[in-house]
Amino acid sequence: MSWPHKDLLCVSQLSAGDVENVMRTADSFQEINARPVKKVPTLRGKSVVLFFAEPSTRTKTSFDIAGKRLSADTFSLAKSSSSLVKGESLKDTALTLAAMNPDAIVIRHPSSGAADFLARRLKCSIINAGDGWHAHPTQALLDLFTLRRIWGSVAGKTVLILGDIAHSRVARSNVLLLGMLGANVKLCAPKTLLPARPESWPVTTCPDLDEAVEGADAIMCLRLQLERQQAGLLPNLREYSRRFCLTAERLAKANPHAPVLHPGPINRGVEIASEVADSVESRILDQVSAGVHVRMALLHLYLTRRDAPAAG
Ligand code: CP
Repeated sequence: MSWPHKDLLCVSQLSAGDVENVMRTADSFQEINARPVKKVPTLRGKSVVLFFAEPSTRTKTSFDIAGKRLSADTFSLAKSSSSLVKGESLKDTALTLAAMNPDAIVIRHPSSGAADFLARRLKCSIINAGDGWHAHPTQALLDLFTLRRIWGSVAGKTVLILGDIAHSRVARSNVLLLGMLGANVKLCAPKTLLPARPESWPVTTCPDLDEAVEGADAIMCLRLQLERQQAGLLPNLREYSRRFCLTAERLAKANPHAPVLHPGPINRGVEIASEVADSVESRILDQVSAGVHVRMALLHLYLTRRDAPAAG
């Protein structure tokens, strides 16, 4: 099946068929990632710039590993070591990178819309690795991959998203993707950490975690993003964790064997208790592994699409 998209900015660009294509391609790369020699020549001659203007452990490393396992050349640029710190604009940085003729730029940036800004100006593929509060499409796709490995399909399942939803690009992307595929999404957060108009989202909300976990088939905890918050959104951390930390006692009220997800990095004892993070129900490290399979699939699909510039 040919891949019709130049860029990945938001999951809303993808059809259900596109998502299925990503999942099946990721399935095939999972097998390669289990081999003693985890390298195939598929993207030999292609180059991928990893432009991360915000910190990242999982996304940046897994894109790097994904590219290298497909034999692409990957080049990393971090904000702290780039000319952004000398005042170069995003536009000039993007044009400079494009002049080196990469096949794709993977970008993480604190501004919502940064990936779209590049996509409208550059010929190479732009893959959004997280822009402000807006979107983190590759995270939602790897979360879906993780849930499909457990259930086969997410249709009809209830997924509870818990925590700092207002500041979360992961929540926004998951709400869209899970909703598109027929899952029921429930949100649980203090009022101050819900999105501005939650009634306009295809979700139900419940402010009481003990009630919200009842009937949940999976629980996705979110990090409290103190770096993006204005002062005064929370009374204090202890009160937040008393009401919104996923403990073993609360998890026991969800449906039996409900998997627990978290995009990471986790704040143990704040949004998730250590005993839950380390429990058999925790799929946090499976998500990290899925990140490599799914990002290999995405690099493969975007860099081998019919109108992709030929290598060499
Ligand atoms: N989930 C996620 O985006 O993690 P990193 O910030 O470590 O990439």
